[in-house]
Amino acid sequence: MTRLLTIAAALLVATALIAAQSSPKRYGIGTPATPDQIAALDIDVRPDGMGLPPGSGSAREGAPIYAQKCAPCHGANGEGGAGDALVGAAPRDGAPFGPEYERWRNGRPDVPFTIGNYWPYATTIFDYVRRAMPASAPGTLTADETYALTAWLLAKNEIISESEAMNAETLPRVRMPARARFVPDNRKGGSEVR
Ligand code: HEC
Repeated sequence: MTRLLTIAAALLVATALIAAQSSPKRYGIGTPATPDQIAALDIDVRPDGMGLPPGSGSAREGAPIYAQKCAPCHGANGEGGAGDALVGAAPRDGAPFGPEYERWRNGRPDVPFTIGNYWPYATTIFDYVRRAMPASAPGTLTADETYALTAWLLAKNEIISESEAMNAETLPRVRMPARARFVPDNRKGGSEVR
């Protein structure tokens, strides 16, 4: 019996060795990404503004672009439609937040989560719109168009004025209404929830 097991084990080792020898180190498929291809994907923007491209745009400049490229899904004034509501600043500081807010709003469509009441960083609007919108043709907006649309969304949410230009300098300085409501997650495990 012991001998049989030994033979079986030896056979297994031999099979594994053959398998290891026959799998190539490289499969020879794919090509190395070019610097241009990497640059096209490397478009993340950080809360401090790192990654924002040159360019500029105001809400006034953004209005016609929004009407043409965004309104069909998000409504003429950002009230929502096939796509999410994008405008709606209430509830501001006084309202409940997080799971409390979810319970308080109880699915009410008149108090949706929006940029105005929930997003902590203005730079995320630029990042998200440039990478994901319009949902039917993501990646087609220029930097100027994206700044102008970001400005339009911020102005509609009553966070900046219609004439303020958003660019790599001004956008990171915009303080979002919900900014202070996010806290670093320093939970230690267990039941602590902040
Ligand atoms: C074809 C429909 C469509 C068009 C056109 C469109 N969107 Fe969207 N948008 C969506 C959908 C659907 C979502 C939700 C995506 C998800 O949650 O994954 C969304 C989400 C968003 C969000 C995130 C909202 C949130 O609070 O999470 C923003 C901001 C946004 N769109 C901006 C724009 C802008 C600016 C334009 C115009 C350049 C645009 N969208 C055009 C369908 C569209």
